[in-house]
Amino acid sequence: MNVDELAELAQTYRDEEAPIRREVRVCMAASCQSSGAVPVHDALEKACADRGASCKVKGVGCMGLCSAGPLVAVADHGADLAHVLLSHVDKVVDRGYQRDIAATGARVEYDQAFRWPAGDANGTLQLLEWAAEDGLLDHITLGLDAARQGYWSQYGGWPGWTYLLAEFADAMRERGLGEAEQRILFVEVPGAAYTFGARA
Ligand code: FES
Repeated sequence: MNVDELAELAQTYRDEEAPIRREVRVCMAASCQSSGAVPVHDALEKACADRGASCKVKGVGCMGLCSAGPLVAVADHGADLAHVLLSHVDKVVDRGYQRDIAATGARVEYDQAFRWPAGDANGTLQLLEWAAEDGLLDHITLGLDAARQGYWSQYGGWPGWTYLLAEFADAMRERGLGEAEQRILFVEVPGAAYTFGARA
């Protein structure tokens, strides 16, 4: 194959891929395959085909995060970061770090509110205060990193699933994060982050 033929082939690929708005990459290396990458790949391919979506599902090699498999990545021209939520982010009580994440457009879930040791400052509350001052509450929603039964009140544990709307909401109020701020965190942000519609 000569240079002209190669250029023609490259152009053919470019033309074929021009209508594709999203590329979804599924790791098909050994570790991810053992965690179920093949059915995930096939389901994504079927979903794209069924909906006539202009996306391409592509099997790729190891992405280097094998323990988190099966790994799926949406190429940067497809992901709307307003629908991406990063959890556990309030483990890092660093204002600059939180501002940097918000600048990417991604949202975060603060889910460590009950984990701060008694007597220590509550890092989650501190971050919420900073976010309110920085106008960044609309990047944050709240959750509980509390899946174990030991955290459920019906098993005699603590804090129970009502913690955020009871004790923590009271603590927020005492720090000046009242009804308006809580509506953003508990209603508006999750509503926007988990609602999907056609792009403008
Ligand atoms: S095997 Fe999938 S990320 Fe490594």
